Amino acid sequence: MISVFGLGRVGLVTAVCLANKGYQVIGIDRDRHRLEKIRNSDPLFFEPKVLEYNKSVIASGKLSVTEDASMSARSDLVYITVGTPSKKDGGINLGFVKNAAIAIGQSLRNSDQYQMVIVKSTVIPGTARNLVKPIIEKESGKKSGKGFGLSTNPEFLREGKAIHDTEYPDRIVIGSEDSEAIKNLESFYRELYAERIPPILRTTHENAELIKYANNAFLAMKVSFINTIANIAESMPGADVKTIAAGLGLDDRVGPKFLNAGFGWGGSCFPKDLSALITFCKSLNYSPRLIEAVVEQNRIQSRRAIHLAKRALRSLKGKRIAVLGLAFKPKTDDMREAVSIPIIKGLLAQGAKVVAYDPAAMKNARGMFQDAIQYATNPRECMDSSDCCIIVTEWEEFKTLSPSDFVERMRKPVLIDGRRIYDAVDFTAAGVRFFAVGLGPLE
Ligand code: UGA
Repeated sequence: MISVFGLGRVGLVTAVCLANKGYQVIGIDRDRHRLEKIRNSDPLFFEPKVLEYNKSVIASGKLSVTEDASMSARSDLVYITVGTPSKKDGGINLGFVKNAAIAIGQSLRNSDQYQMVIVKSTVIPGTARNLVKPIIEKESGKKSGKGFGLSTNPEFLREGKAIHDTEYPDRIVIGSEDSEAIKNLESFYRELYAERIPPILRTTHENAELIKYANNAFLAMKVSFINTIANIAESMPGADVKTIAAGLGLDDRVGPKFLNAGFGWGGSCFPKDLSALITFCKSLNYSPRLIEAVVEQNRIQSRRAIHLAKRALRSLKGKRIAVLGLAFKPKTDDMREAVSIPIIKGLLAQGAKVVAYDPAAMKNARGMFQDAIQYATNPRECMDSSDCCIIVTEWEEFKTLSPSDFVERMRKPVLIDGRRIYDAVDFTAAGVRFFAVGLGPLE
């Protein structure tokens, strides 16, 4: 039996995937409304396949959910997947992790069950050793390594691909000071993944915790790097960041992924994790200048959209600007820290009228911008009678738009391709004034 504490995106995905594999899973969460939704298989968030899995494992009885933490007492494995929300100082709030550790410890007190406790929440280095372990030891009255085995096992799930990334992980990182705990969790994963088992890295808690942050910081840095090169290319006729990225990516020490330039990275992970890492470094009296620069580069990157719009139209006052794509990336409705937000605010501040469309994030956008902007029901309606159209998120649906859609629909066909999804030559030949991230001036 497996228990999963915290049924947010990571917890629910973990729970439904394990239940789908045939394990008996108990999902534990304090939020009754959330539990009710899971029981009824109502969507909690936008994530491909999760609802399907949810329905099937609730129907088969392989997943049950409860707010009663003591139900974890008979579990062989207990995952901690609670949220670690940001604090004002950029650090993370470990309150939910602490509560989960207390509940796990208390339920272990009267149980003779040996439990593998696995911290999957993203936590700053030292959390498993200095917070989770002593709490469980105190509450359970048992020593780590005796009544329970504690390990850190970060997740590397992308939004929009969370089920795929859980079922086909590219690596498994297990950190612990307890070699039995590592061995036990490794055996579990060998059974779970069988011949699909990826490389396993066995290490300390601290390394496992830091690998997660290093991973996201590195990917964010890679994007901010190519965005910097894009900004250079934008000022030089003949330069194009797409070709530069292709050339760079051919170096197998660099690799082609995460070199798609844009108006900046967003989402619930990169911004939060980089801030937490910076705040953590400061607690060590170390200023991580490189990571601070990545965050700063990203903060101002969205201004490039306004810069390009002004290059195209001079003044934005009174202009109708169509914004295509609001979610922080395609295949999600998530607008947390999405670059569409500063872009729309910047356009409004310049006196522009904004009309926006996104295939999934309209509800979130309405909640955020209310009647400050207009909302379209499809991309073509969005660009109707507009003076400029900005592509912010690279949804597949936008890639099928042709130059004639822009020429026929817009008041004046001025396109800013913020994700490089269109061919500059085709669009220019069709009469579209074409501007793009990382593309040297064409006019
Ligand atoms: C990220 C990591 O990729 C996952 O490995 C990690 O598990 C997850 O955070 C997490 O910590 O939970 P995610 O936030 O879903 O996943 O998003 P990504 O696909 O990494 O994209 C992040 C941002 O970078 C998006 O705004 C995206 O548009 C942008 N990006 C990405 C680019 O602008 N260019 C690229 O080439 C790649």
